[in-house]
Parts: sequence; structure tokens; C-alpha cells
Amino acid sequence: MSKTMLAVVKERPEPGITVKHIPIPETPKGEVKVKVIYGSICGTDIGIYDWIPWVQGHLKPPIVIGHEIVGEIIDINGDASHLKIGDIVSSETHIYDETCEQCKMGNQHVCDTVQFFGYGRDGGFAEYATIPIRTTWRNDPSIPLKEMSVQEPLGNAVHAVTKGDVSDKRVLVVGLGPVGMCAVAVANAYGAREVVAIDPELYRRELTEKFTNVTTLEKIDTKDFNRFHVVIEASGVPAGIQTSLDAVYPAGKIVAIGIPKKEITLDWGKYIIDKEITIESIFGRRIWETWHQTTDLLKSRKIDLQKIITHEFELKDFEEAMKIMKSGKCGKILLKINPPQI
Ligand SMILES: NC(=O)c1ccc[n+]([C@@H]2O[C@H](COP(=O)([O-])OP(=O)(O)OC[C@H]3O[C@@H](n4cnc5c(N)ncnc54)[C@H](O)[C@@H]3O)[C@@H](O)[C@H]2O)c1
Ligand SMILES: [Zn+2]
Ligand SMILES: [Zn+2]
Repeated sequence: MSKTMLAVVKERPEPGITVKHIPIPETPKGEVKVKVIYGSICGTDIGIYDWIPWVQGHLKPPIVIGHEIVGEIIDINGDASHLKIGDIVSSETHIYDETCEQCKMGNQHVCDTVQFFGYGRDGGFAEYATIPIRTTWRNDPSIPLKEMSVQEPLGNAVHAVTKGDVSDKRVLVVGLGPVGMCAVAVANAYGAREVVAIDPELYRRELTEKFTNVTTLEKIDTKDFNRFHVVIEASGVPAGIQTSLDAVYPAGKIVAIGIPKKEITLDWGKYIIDKEITIESIFGRRIWETWHQTTDLLKSRKIDLQKIITHEFELKDFEEAMKIMKSGKCGKILLKINPPQI
């Protein structure tokens, strides 16, 4: 085995990224080492690339980025009764400590000392990566490998739609990036009465329509104001958040997923008070409840995640992949890191 590996590194606190060779990591105590098979690029990785304020508060360069991965365990350093060499695993992004009050209350995803795989510490856009044993998820082998890589954002959607309690409700999904697309699919699977979704990008509306039961629109007009029991906000842009406030039915619920690039303003009296709405937010996935739900959706084929994978790139071509990500003319982009040899 060569002593170095190719990795995507955020080297400096400024826009941009570096693809370079770095030493293969040793396996720290309490972690496993994986040979990474696939990775997938997340909206958060665009923020890392662009060095947006939210990322500046979460990431200290230099680190290897990438949190959506699937890999094969090649080394275990510690007690891991549920894992063995050769297991095909993914990483929960929110690395919790197991000891704080939140962890003890079952809220590990908002642990008091939470660290993030791929933005608070080294992640997985590299030929090899290490993952804490406690945040290593053993994948169900019946799920296709590529879908294992993309299941983490599906988990965000599952967590949001579960909080939305969408059964028999009129649901609006704002923003059809991969997370929003998944939210539409999950709302279908969880029995929403009607799902409407908006995104200014035609490519993404058409892609979503191909694998879900949805009506898509460029934007809503006033006839759709106050119409939706549940709004899933997955755009993170001020206009999308404004639309969510207008569209939600009085006494309805907005579930916030999208992360604004900067502070936003809203008319508190007009929306929060007069409409008596509930705003819930999600940060990651519930550990491990959401992963079990996601596995059920994939195993039962209620959701076919391969449909949202539109591009595949080699790790060395990360910059090119990022350009496509930023264009919005894509679904999920897969990075072939050590793909199976057929
Ligand atoms: N809360 C969490 O735990 C969590 C986890 C993952 C991602 N995120 C965030 O969720 C958001 C979605 O993630 P993604 O990977 O799908 O990102 P993305 O950037 O691919 O998708 C955002 C979509 O919103 C659309 N959009 C832009 N303006 C709009 C408007 N006015 N109305 C409706 N749609 C509009 C864009 O065209 C794009 O398709 C991002 O902000 C991301 O950072 C949050
Ligand atoms: Zn992600
Ligand atoms: Zn904790």
C-alpha cells in the first residue's frame, strides 16, 4: 500500500479547494479505517468551497472534506462488537460524545460538543478515511452501493418530513436540490395527501417529476398563499423562506432545513403571530432512528435513490464536479473513489 492518498482538502480559510496527495491516516483509538468506495457532494460542500459565514463558524482548515460516503472497513482500533473487517459502512456526520445531557436525552445529533465529519474534522473525500466506531453505520447489504453514499441527505429529508407529520396533509416543498427532491419522495412515502414543489431551476423540477408524485412550479402565486398544512423549506434562500411563510396554512407548520448564507429578516407579527404557525428545524438526522427509517425506505424500494444521481466523477476531477454542482443542472453527484472493479 502506498503511504499517501489523494484527498480533497480545505487548506485555507478562503474560497477554493485543493486536491492533493496527503499521508494515509493511522487509525486513531476508538475509530475504524475505511477504504472509501464512493462519496457524494452535498450542498454544504458548496458552502465549504465558497467559505460562507456558516461554514466559517464550523470549520478550521486544513481538513479533508466530505461527509457523504460509503466505504469498506479495513482496520478497527478498539471495541467494535457490531463491526468487522470487510463491513460496508457509512458515517453519521454528527459526531457526538455520548456523555453530555443532550446525548443522555437521546439527542445525540445536537450533542453539546458535536463535531462534524468532513467539516469539523477530517472527512471522507479521500482514498482512505477514519470514522469513530460510535458513528459508524453498518449498511444493509441489500441496498445498492451508490445509494448507500447518498442516503445521508435522504436522512435529512426523512427527519424533516417526520417532524412535519405529513400524513393526509397538503405539503409544499420549497427548493428541489437533492434534499428537497428526497423530501418530496419521503412525503409521498409517508402518505401526504398532495405534494407541490417549487424551484426556479427547470432541470431540477423535471428530475423530481421523474421519480415522485408531485406537481412542480417555478414559484407559487397568491392563490397558493395560506394553502399548505406543512411546508418543508429546503432552499435556504431568503425568497424561499418568504414563500414558505406566505404558503403555510394558518396554524400549520414550516420545517426548516435550508441554511441561509447570511442573516435573514422576516415580518414576525404578520407571520409568526397572526398565522399562529409552528416553525420546527432539523439539524442532521436522529441517531439512529432516522437511519433505520432511511434503510426501510431503501430496502422496500419505496424510494429509488439512483434516480437522483445524475453525474459521476473521479476524485481527481473534484473541481469539475463542483462547477456542475454550482450550475444547478444536476441531481446528486457521485465521486468514484475506489469503485468496485467489474
Ligand atoms: N439542516 C440540515 O441538517 C441540512 C442538511 C443538509 C443540507 N442542508 C441545507 O439544505 C439546503 C438544501 O440542500 P441541497 O443539497 O438540496 O442544496 P441545493 O443548493 O442543491 O438546493 C437548493 C435548491 O433551492 C432552489 N432555490 C433557489 N431559490 C429558490 C426559491 N426562491 N424558491 C424555491 N427554490 C429555490 C435552487 O434552485 C436549488 O435547487 C441547503 O441550504 C443545505 O445547506 C441542511
Ligand atoms: Zn450532506
Ligand atoms: Zn453529547
